[in-house]
Amino acid sequence: ADPEPLQDFCVADLQSTTTINGKVTSDDFFFSGFTNEANTSSNDFGSFVTPGNVEAFPGLNTLGISMNRVDIAPGGINPPHHHPRASEAGVVVQGQVLVGFVTTAGVYHSRVLAASEMFVIPRGLVHFQLNVGIEKAILITSFNSQLPGSVVAPLALFAAEPSVPDRVLAKSFLVGEDVVRSIKAKFIR
Ligand code: GLV
Ligand code: MN
Repeated sequence: ADPEPLQDFCVADLQSTTTINGKVTSDDFFFSGFTNEANTSSNDFGSFVTPGNVEAFPGLNTLGISMNRVDIAPGGINPPHHHPRASEAGVVVQGQVLVGFVTTAGVYHSRVLAASEMFVIPRGLVHFQLNVGIEKAILITSFNSQLPGSVVAPLALFAAEPSVPDRVLAKSFLVGEDVVRSIKAKFIR
């Protein structure tokens, strides 16, 4: 997790060097980035994560916390991913969502959650959210890092640039390189 806060606040100035308890306005402490409904059809997963991390909301700088809004179309998925720098606590605001994660011992934990129910994902563990309802799902997630980072498994392995060699993925998933190439082809934008 991030270090404890060293001071009341230190709003990041993304254009220049950071100042210590520098000049601020009230606008630095409020964020309206979650008010818009996200377009869940902009990708084949049918989901969209709107980040409320320090890059989007500089007032979080040094405070060790951040949030996301996650919109998922019916049948859509926020695909398996992990956050290297944070545990995640989330609440379903709308819809019915299968939330699952896998421990380092290979144990899968999951539950279908309805609105107002909460979950937690221990730091670094691979997890996903699948909309199993008939309406659009909305979640608000929170992190004990101002910038938790997100490694999305299918994208990290099959959509990296330059590409991870077909041979590496074929041997790792115990399939032929033709299978690897057909998966990779789906992620070409
Ligand atoms: C959900 O898992 C998120 O990272 O916001
Ligand atoms: Mn997550």
